[in-house]
Amino acid sequence: MAAEEPLLRVEHVTRSFPRPRAEGGGLLHACDDVTFDLGREGAEIVSLVGESGSGKTTLARLILGLDRVDGGHIRYRGRSLATLGARDWLAHRREVQAVFQDPYGIYNPFYQVDRVLEQPLRRFRLASGRADERRRMEEALGAVDLRPADVLGRFPHQLSGGERQRIMLARLYLIRPRLIVADEPVSMIDAALRTMFLNILLDLRQEGMSCLFITHNLQTAFYLGGRCLVLYRGRLVEAGQVDDILSHPAHPYTRMLMDSVPSADPGQRWKDEIPARAVESGQAPLPTACAFVDRCPAAMAICRAERPRLRQTHTGQHAACFLYDPAHTGLGDANRTPQACPDTLVGG
Ligand SMILES: Nc1ncnc2c1ncn2[C@@H]1O[C@H](COP(=O)(O)OP(=O)(O)OP(=O)(O)O)[C@@H](O)[C@H]1O
Ligand SMILES: [Mg+2]
Repeated sequence: MAAEEPLLRVEHVTRSFPRPRAEGGGLLHACDDVTFDLGREGAEIVSLVGESGSGKTTLARLILGLDRVDGGHIRYRGRSLATLGARDWLAHRREVQAVFQDPYGIYNPFYQVDRVLEQPLRRFRLASGRADERRRMEEALGAVDLRPADVLGRFPHQLSGGERQRIMLARLYLIRPRLIVADEPVSMIDAALRTMFLNILLDLRQEGMSCLFITHNLQTAFYLGGRCLVLYRGRLVEAGQVDDILSHPAHPYTRMLMDSVPSADPGQRWKDEIPARAVESGQAPLPTACAFVDRCPAAMAICRAERPRLRQTHTGQHAACFLYDPAHTGLGDANRTPQACPDTLVGG
């Protein structure tokens, strides 16, 4: 990997699905020209937030290689996934690991949960023998506060959702991937376990593992810190340091996500959960307009005529909104020095 290559680069990625005729037919752009980097300067956690249907899981599946892009590229360590051969995919599957909301689906109900830990050890040849396998499994379970005697030898249905999720974390300890793609991993577990889960991710980052963390819960993104990407109807509408976005949400959509009631506790200024709303029930956004225009209190004529690109705001993050383009607002405010977002970097 060239020194300047980020671990992951999502480059103008588009993925569309046919829309049912009852909804007007045509194509639904689940991901629409999405560009961002992750891990340019060492391991990092980037949160991806957006309401239901905004394209988060679609993006996760593309990065994991479970689906293919229609346009653009996903580059992992500098190489487009479209060019990987069978051996490269084995390495990719080891280095890029998924954690899903409820991992029940990846457990085979007929096998003891041990298999979830044994399989990667064998597939990726990580242990030197049976005894080493057992030692590694016990060590990994200990790292996530599980007693081997409580979980090994059991079947998936005999464990709680939190225990199943912790075993997935233990699996990460065993595999030590470079990139974790976590899709709503804490939305079904209780608050104490949620904190533990997030702390483990922060520890893993210290050990050199990066993470794309998908969440509806903006407080979770705040807890993790680092960079945050806001996705709306398949498009990135805001990107930057989560602290900057928290204190000065730039895009009207991001502002809408914030609690309107001011609070002394900055962590409490986020709405707890983004409402799950069927945003696709209306007309598909025009390719030549802002996707938020119909809901935007600040919409201008230009917002219906042109698609806004990510531009840097005066508070440091990037927002895809003409409010940050003096050519359209006519503000010419010296404090606003928007620049087109460099193609190579969003945030960072
Ligand atoms: N295989 C598919 N076929 C048709 N439409 C799809 C397919 N996968 C996703 N979609 C549509 O793409 C859009 C984005 O879906 P996606 O699952 O990525 O959203 P999400 O942000 O993960 O939502 P949630 O927060 O509810 O998990 C949705 O409108 C969804 O119905
Ligand atoms: Mg999803």
